[in-house]
Parts: sequence; structure tokens; C-alpha cells
Amino acid sequence: MSERRIGIIMNGVTGRMGTNQHLARSIAAIRRQGGVALRDGSRLMPDPILVGRDGGKLQRLAKTHGVERWTTDLDAALANRADRVFFDAATTQMRPTLLKRAIAAGKHVYCEKPVATTLAEALSLVRAAKKARVKHGVVQDKLWLPGMRKLARLRDEGFFGKILSVRGEFGYWVFEGDPGRAQPAAQRPSWNYRAQDGGGIILDMLCHWRYVLDNLFGEVQAVSCRGATHLPWRWDEGGRRYRADADDAAYATFELKGGVIAQFNSSWCARVRRDDLLTLQVDGTKGSAVAGLRDCRIQSYAETPKPVWNPDIPQPIDFYAGWRPVPDEAFDNAFKVQWEAFLRHVAGEGGFRWNLLEGAKGVQLAELGLKSWARRRWLDVPKLKA
Ligand SMILES: NC(=O)c1ccc[n+]([C@@H]2O[C@H](COP(=O)([O-])OP(=O)(O)OC[C@H]3O[C@@H](n4cnc5c(N)ncnc54)[C@H](O)[C@@H]3O)[C@@H](O)[C@H]2O)c1
Repeated sequence: MSERRIGIIMNGVTGRMGTNQHLARSIAAIRRQGGVALRDGSRLMPDPILVGRDGGKLQRLAKTHGVERWTTDLDAALANRADRVFFDAATTQMRPTLLKRAIAAGKHVYCEKPVATTLAEALSLVRAAKKARVKHGVVQDKLWLPGMRKLARLRDEGFFGKILSVRGEFGYWVFEGDPGRAQPAAQRPSWNYRAQDGGGIILDMLCHWRYVLDNLFGEVQAVSCRGATHLPWRWDEGGRRYRADADDAAYATFELKGGVIAQFNSSWCARVRRDDLLTLQVDGTKGSAVAGLRDCRIQSYAETPKPVWNPDIPQPIDFYAGWRPVPDEAFDNAFKVQWEAFLRHVAGEGGFRWNLLEGAKGVQLAELGLKSWARRRWLDVPKLKA
């Protein structure tokens, strides 16, 4: 079986997402499985070159994941015509500049979300990629989570009847990193909590909710969002106390095309008493579902209990009992599945809808969410044109 090499410049791989999801779980895993199968029977084999600032870290990372090439010289990497794809999972703020350099060098580009911190920048990227006629993609990983795939299938089978509403609960307690307390290390990077570094849960999560809602339940047409900065002080990676001035919770409502109403609570300051870190409850005229990252449970019309309000007796209904699990299928890692689709697309096989314009829509919704909060009002989400 013949093998086709595809050179990928991977930037930001020493970070949390870059290392775990993109290098270990996606590119290294694709290499281990023998590449991506193409229609002509050949296999597309990723040949990554890791790019970053710290040579020592890159070398160790390359060794751990069986990667031969790494460099601290991005210009030299971009100058190599044999590497046709540029990928970025470094900081959101630097992304537009980096992507533009890669596009100018004629690379196809794939990147983490948010594609930029402002809609204007995000749209300028769409235009640059279009002009250069390069292929482009943005990570929309939640669409390939088993829980979301199950919701999509239920929707396609008509299980819900008419979908009325969607309720999303996202979040968990992100420790402050206070060296003097029981959990001295935070489980997320400190820049997430500083506005000047591109932090904030609205920019982070409304990008996700945009593509989840657009793809599963109807295009987002209006938003009302109330952000909050609940915890004003946190401690950084070096144990230094800093002012956490970015929003760490968002309480948002969306109106979708077709009339569905979606409400999402996103919080890094909430303790979990639900099935998973993200749960989506979908209520329809014929049935409901609650999906987490992997599992999904359903309750049909016929299975719906008939509660009667009576606080004077203990609750006679076990509301958790009346739900059936949706059977599992073989679902691969969500980031890997999307990587495979992008690589096939670059190789000329299949379209790829999850592009820079779709990424810009996420930034648009985040920006409108922030505006809605500042102005204390509902805002329409206009159609985007690059
Ligand atoms: N798809 C998702 O679910 C998801 C989840 C979390 C984060 N993200 C996105 O992924 C990106 C990275 O997030 P993370 O949590 O991995 O952050 P991180 O802080 O762990 O990693 C950031 C990376 O950028 C590099 N970097 C930082 N400053 C730099 C500079 N000045 N010059 C060059 N490189 C620099 C770091 O070395 C590191 O490799 C962000 O854009 C974030 O929004 C996406």
C-alpha cells in the first residue's frame, strides 16, 4: 500500500491543548495507526515538525511522541515548501498574526478556536485565506464528542418531535491556585483569567456554543448574555497572586432559527452535581435527552412521569430512574476525527465545512455576548459576510 507524506508545522504544541489533544491524541495516534486511509487505497502519513520557543521542551516532546523534527525557527519552518500545512494551538491573541504569516507563505491552515479575539480580525483571516486560495479549518471538537453525536442521531431520527428548548450546563470549580490552600495548583492556565491576555469564559465558550447550536439545533439568531467575574484574585503558575479581571462565568440565552430557545450556564466557579462537566438537555414534543461528553440518556413521551407538586410528602418519583441510555458506538477521539477530515480535505478528498468563516461566527457570538452584557440588552446576530 503506497504512502503519501503530508508535512505539518505544529505551533503551540507545548501547551495543554497542543500536547494532549493535537499531538498525543491526534497526530501521533494517526501516525501509529498507519496514517489516514484515502479513497485510492493509499495512506496519508502526517510528518509533523514541532515549533515553539523552548528547544529543550520541544526535543523532549518530540522524543516522547516519536516525532523526528522540531525547531525554534518559525520562519525557516514556513519557508520549507515540503510542509504544506500550518497548525496553531498557541495563544489566541497571537493566532491572527501567525495564521497570516502562514497563509502568506502559501500554507493550508488549521487552528484552535477562538480564531481571534475580535470579529474584525477573524474576518480578515477569512479574506486572507480566500485570496491566497489555501484550505482552512478551525477546531470544533465538541461536534465529534460521542454525547453530541448521539444527540445528532436522535434529532435525525425524529426522536424529539419538535425541539422546544436546549439547556446547557458547563463548568466546574477551577481552583484559584492559592499555594496556602488545600488545592495549591489551578487546573487551567492563568491567562484564561486575565482580560489583557485573551482570557474570559465568554470568548472561550460562546465560540463552542455557536457551532454546537448552529450544527445541532438551528442557527443562532439572537443573544442575551450576563457575564460575571466571581473570583477577583487567583494565583499564577509561579504562585504569584494576580488580579483575575476576565469573566469567569456567563449566563446566556440564545434564540435559534426555527424557534428553539437555548440557555447556557458556563462557569469556572460552580461545583458539579450533574452527569458530566458539560450536559445538554434537549426537550421536544415527543421526547427529551440529556447528553454529557460521552453518554446520553433519553425519555420518551410515554415514559414521562406525571409529577404533582406536593412539598408535604417526600418526593415519590425517582426522576433519574426514568431515563434510558442511548447505546454506545465506536467513537474515536473528537479532535482526531476532525484532524483526519481536514487532512483528507487537504489531500483533495471531501469538503470541510468547519472553516475560518465558521470560526469567525464563534468570535462574532462571543463579541455580541460581551456587548449584550455591557449594554444589558438582547442583540441580533447578523449573517456574516467575509
Ligand atoms: N477546543 C477546545 O476545547 C479548547 C480548550 C482549551 C483551549 N483551547 C484553545 O487552545 C489555545 C491554547 O490553550 P491552552 O489551554 O492549551 O493554553 P496553554 O497556556 O496551555 O498553551 C499555550 C501555548 O502557547 C505558547 N505560547 C504562549 N505565549 C507565547 C508566546 N509569547 N510566543 C509563542 N508561544 C507562546 C505556550 O508555550 C504554549 O505552547 C487557546 O487559543 C485556547 O482558546 C481550546
